Amino acid sequence: MAFIPEDKLLEIKDAASIEEVVGQYVKLTQKGKNLLGLCPFHADTAPSFTVAPEKGIFHCFGCGAGGNVFSFLMQYHRLSFPEAVQELARRYGIPLTLKELGPEGAQQAKKRATAYDANTAAAAFYAATLASSEGAPGRAYLAKRGLTPEIIRAFQLGYAPEAWDTLSRHFQKRGIPLELAQEVGLLAPRTHGGFYDRFRGRIIFPIFDRHNRVIAFGGRTIGDGEPKYLNSPESLLYSKGRTLYGLPQAAEALRATGVALVVEGYLDLIALQVQGIGNVVATLGTALTREQVRLLKSLADKVVLVYDGDAAGAKAMKRAFPLFAQENLPVRALPLPGGMDPDDYARAHGVELFRTAWDSAQPWFSYLLEDLIINYGLDVEGRVKIFEELRPYLQAITDPVEQDLWLKSAGRRLGVDEGVLRKSLTSLAPISATRLDPRAKLAVSLEKALIRWVLSHPEAVTLEELEEWAGEFINLELKGLLALIITSYKEHGRVDHGLLVQQATGETQRQRICALTLEEDESGGLSVDFLAADWRRDLHIRRLKKARAQLKERLKTAASVEGDDLLALSQEIDRQLDHLKSRST
Ligand code: GTP
Ligand code: MN
Repeated sequence: MAFIPEDKLLEIKDAASIEEVVGQYVKLTQKGKNLLGLCPFHADTAPSFTVAPEKGIFHCFGCGAGGNVFSFLMQYHRLSFPEAVQELARRYGIPLTLKELGPEGAQQAKKRATAYDANTAAAAFYAATLASSEGAPGRAYLAKRGLTPEIIRAFQLGYAPEAWDTLSRHFQKRGIPLELAQEVGLLAPRTHGGFYDRFRGRIIFPIFDRHNRVIAFGGRTIGDGEPKYLNSPESLLYSKGRTLYGLPQAAEALRATGVALVVEGYLDLIALQVQGIGNVVATLGTALTREQVRLLKSLADKVVLVYDGDAAGAKAMKRAFPLFAQENLPVRALPLPGGMDPDDYARAHGVELFRTAWDSAQPWFSYLLEDLIINYGLDVEGRVKIFEELRPYLQAITDPVEQDLWLKSAGRRLGVDEGVLRKSLTSLAPISATRLDPRAKLAVSLEKALIRWVLSHPEAVTLEELEEWAGEFINLELKGLLALIITSYKEHGRVDHGLLVQQATGETQRQRICALTLEEDESGGLSVDFLAADWRRDLHIRRLKKARAQLKERLKTAASVEGDDLLALSQEIDRQLDHLKSRST
């Protein structure tokens, strides 16, 4: 645990509005005091993800994820705590000294910052080289591929010289640590010490994250060199399965259209951008991942896959469909004719097709079905085979309505009774785990209910009362949680949910706080005073019951004289209990 002063954390937490931070990644809609969206941490269809701006926390009713702004960024970007704090401090302009980050946090933060610096410096170096006399072969190549100077600038394209040590010498001069440049994949170690440039004689495509920071590079040969593309390895800044190429350049068009085109290649993307198609991102030479689909979900409402029009492209699209079905993100396929890729197509026919991509594209399931029919034919064996292949896709669809509709459509197209298809779908499949009904109320123990109530009406309970209650708690987890609330209350004179989440002793407690705060309480519109009286009565009953149980124990062994007193006492307790219960609502 880093030792960032709590005051500082509070300052950052209060400056960073959770709806704004989360809203960058999750589409949120207002619902009462809270905001709702599809959870970025599981395949959500509900939507189950709740953000409570007043309390500064989020909670997912589906998967249980929960926390404050810091936890959100940590989970979303897989950052360490100090990294998340630093990121938010940066975004909200709150000065945070390295000293305040603590030794470990400071070291990490410094390393990351230096790594970004190295990448930024490299991108600038490559761009300058492309513009220089040395860059002539690069410029000629890009011109041949139809790239304009504006596009080259917009994507900060560059050229890596042929020599072995131009970047490493440049870094040496600028005092950029070469070991770190090696760690992010710009340099490679020589066998006898020292470093050489990893990218040589290549067009350089800097890869940006959504905050416009350079996190990696792709490099294309301009000749016949192998490999055609050389890409940065995974590093502390770069995880290719969680990144899409062209994000900052596409951001505005994605917002405007709500549709994201996904292509496979750097140059496919740029070819479309050259002709004014802005809402396009590219995978980075690998199969689309679940993380990328979730990223897409935060960027657009609909996705069109525009992969190469060959067998490999078709296969890659088909592999991606189940991810979209699971994430419940509408997707279509836009197959290109004659083995063309988007770049070829745009040169030959222009980009009109891409302007209307969603309408021109085929719903993914029809695309898949027709592709299978071409492959297997419609004779009996073929149809059996086709259904076998369709099964996992149908099972991946989380939206039951969509599943039903495609099942019907497959039945019609294959001439099979829909009911039979449905039966074979469920009989062979493990019945998918019944999803938690987000509204299902948890079994409510008194203690849980008490904490829930304190968290939702902190103003109605005094500190003294809380401490008294804490003494009565039996469940150790909840007792610990109440103790945390009390300590935080004492320190800050109020219950601050976002801060509580921060002070939580672990992930379980953190999630518990958010769940208890945001899950519906049982109060159903009753007044706070009324509820308070009710809880006090319940606690009183519990205490009396405890006392009675103890008396009964003592009665077993008591001498007869003492026994009479105890019996009288026990009867008094019974009377009080009856009285309390008769007042029950
Ligand atoms: P051009 O061939 O120049 O038109 O580029 P392209 O983007 O169309 O390339 P292609 O369709 O062959 O490949 C699509 C994407 O896969 C590229 O943009 C790269 O991200 C990746 N890729 C292609 N070839 C290689 C390779 O040899 N190595 C690696 N690591 N990635 C590659
Ligand atoms: Mn191409």
